Amino acid sequence: MEQDIQIDTIYPRFVMRKRFPELAPGFNEQLMELAIADAMANRVPAGGHDRSIGEDVTHLAHLRHNFLDDARDPVVAQFIKMVDHTVREYLSAVYHYDHEGEIDMMSDTFWQNREEGQNVGINCHTHFKSDLVATYYLNTGCEPGEDNPLRQGALRFYDPQNLGVRPWPNRNPGLVQNGWYNIVPEPGMMVVFEGHIPHDSTYFGGEQRLCIPVMCDVKTSRSHIKKPVSELLRNQG
Ligand SMILES: [Fe+2]
Repeated sequence: MEQDIQIDTIYPRFVMRKRFPELAPGFNEQLMELAIADAMANRVPAGGHDRSIGEDVTHLAHLRHNFLDDARDPVVAQFIKMVDHTVREYLSAVYHYDHEGEIDMMSDTFWQNREEGQNVGINCHTHFKSDLVATYYLNTGCEPGEDNPLRQGALRFYDPQNLGVRPWPNRNPGLVQNGWYNIVPEPGMMVVFEGHIPHDSTYFGGEQRLCIPVMCDVKTSRSHIKKPVSELLRNQG
């Protein structure tokens, strides 16, 4: 008997991870040095700061800045090109869209040390103002032999619809339906995802963790054209 069934995959999200085996020896070490200097220079000073993100009582606090513009170095230039290329790969793989326009980027570097009690993970959050996020891990803080994701500094993505598992088994290997999805990052790994997806990271037992999260906006002729009210009113005469 002829069947008349149509099944569509709807509202999926995609997370891409990539490694860079072709990088020159010493690249990650040089980038790490620059990123640590940047993270230290952008800690919240005693007394606060008008660019402070978060309270200075937690390790999540830092000053809003842009590492990719503040640190002028050939290594940073190469890193910007790596992110640019990877984001375009994501758009091509997920949306079959070969982006040829600009991508706007900024990064607040993120450095956590166990010695200062900063290895307790990061609360769940989104980057809803950014189209895409590309996070490059230079050091993950994972202790060798640790096999519990809750202690590996895992990056966890949450189902934005918060549905979680169904009462029947999911045997479709192409479909993730758990409430969260774990990635245990490795040094040299870049993870790309859309900024609206809720995510956090878990405790790590190693000495330190250093990553460079890059917020990316994909500029197209359909991007919003926002202007300050003062400028709009000035233009209105
Ligand atoms: Fe994040």
